[in-house]
Amino acid sequence: MASKIFQPISFIFLIFILLAPIGHAKRSTPSDKKSSSLDSFKKLKGCHKGNHTKEIHKLKAYLEQFGYLNYPNKTHATDDDFDDILESALKTYQKNYHIKPSGIVDDATISKLITPRCGVPDIVNGTNYMQPRGKKHKSSSSNIHTVSHYSFFDGNPKWPSTKTHLTYRFLSNVPSYAINPVASAFQKWESSTHFTFAQVQTNQNSDLEIGFFRGNHGDGIQNAFDEKSIAHASAPPGGRFHYDEDDKWSVEPAADAFHLESVALHEIGHLLGLGHSLVNAAIMYPTFSHGEVKNLDADDIAGIIALYNH
Ligand SMILES: *[C@@H]1O[C@H](CO)[C@@H](O)[C@H](O)[C@H]1NC(C)=O
Ligand SMILES: *[C@@H]1O[C@H](CO)[C@@H](O)[C@H](O)[C@H]1NC(C)=O
Ligand SMILES: *[C@@H]1O[C@H](CO)[C@@H](O)[C@H](O)[C@H]1NC(C)=O
Ligand SMILES: [Zn+2]
Repeated sequence: MASKIFQPISFIFLIFILLAPIGHAKRSTPSDKKSSSLDSFKKLKGCHKGNHTKEIHKLKAYLEQFGYLNYPNKTHATDDDFDDILESALKTYQKNYHIKPSGIVDDATISKLITPRCGVPDIVNGTNYMQPRGKKHKSSSSNIHTVSHYSFFDGNPKWPSTKTHLTYRFLSNVPSYAINPVASAFQKWESSTHFTFAQVQTNQNSDLEIGFFRGNHGDGIQNAFDEKSIAHASAPPGGRFHYDEDDKWSVEPAADAFHLESVALHEIGHLLGLGHSLVNAAIMYPTFSHGEVKNLDADDIAGIIALYNH
């Protein structure tokens, strides 16, 4: 399983072994389902190497899903032993999220673990996309040197230099209220990059497509929506961007829903070739909370310029 997932042109998600139950006795509100499952991380408070606690396998599954763990012996991937491999993976996770890399499941770590996030992993094929790569660029308006923390997918996949106009279509399952927020996100990318975008009809061919899906929406692609991921997208030239329909979405910022346009900005970044960024303010930072509204950041634009100018 593990090797197949790391194809940059397909969705790069790990199938979560504990798939959301099919035909799940529904329909408690989607957010209830999600939060109750993430709550189990709270029971791990204070855990560290040497501990053996019932919920540790869930932490392992989480870290494996997002690329931090890859046990050579799969038996250890599903047990409740807090071993060296888990400690090391947890420290890497903590570093990526600006938490003291103690290897202990502390409050700061738990609060990050329970924050919903994009389904694209932070680490693929051993490459930690979120670690600073020391790229320095000189800000044009001052002499301040800043280090950028944008990243690309494995092998730097991108659209050919002749392909600056990309078409997108909405699959028929997209609710009509989502159309304007996504179109607005495309406009924001258009005004900050060399790309132009145009919507085409649902039944036409397009470079990019937007859909709403739930759970393991098998279309031959290895991926699954679960309680952690809210949306995902493929690297160029994949062109697929999916929202999780089990999450609550809003056009205007709302305290109990994810902001459609902000999440679209993030996923379009993936469609153009950006990976996750370490910078909190960057749209390519992996997590999103209810009500959170974000915009493109200088780090995101610097990433696109760097990707397409070499
Ligand atoms: C993953 O890394 C291995 C070893 O470096 C390499 O051979 C393989 O092509 C990589 N896979 C992808 C999808 O880039
Ligand atoms: C972890 O192990 C220590 C002993 O090393 C024990 O005191 C502690 O209660 C354990 N924590 C949990 C959450 O199981
Ligand atoms: C995997 O680990 C288990 C438990 O420690 C052990 O019994 C088994 O032999 C290991 N398998 C391999 C292939 O090393
Ligand atoms: Zn993402």
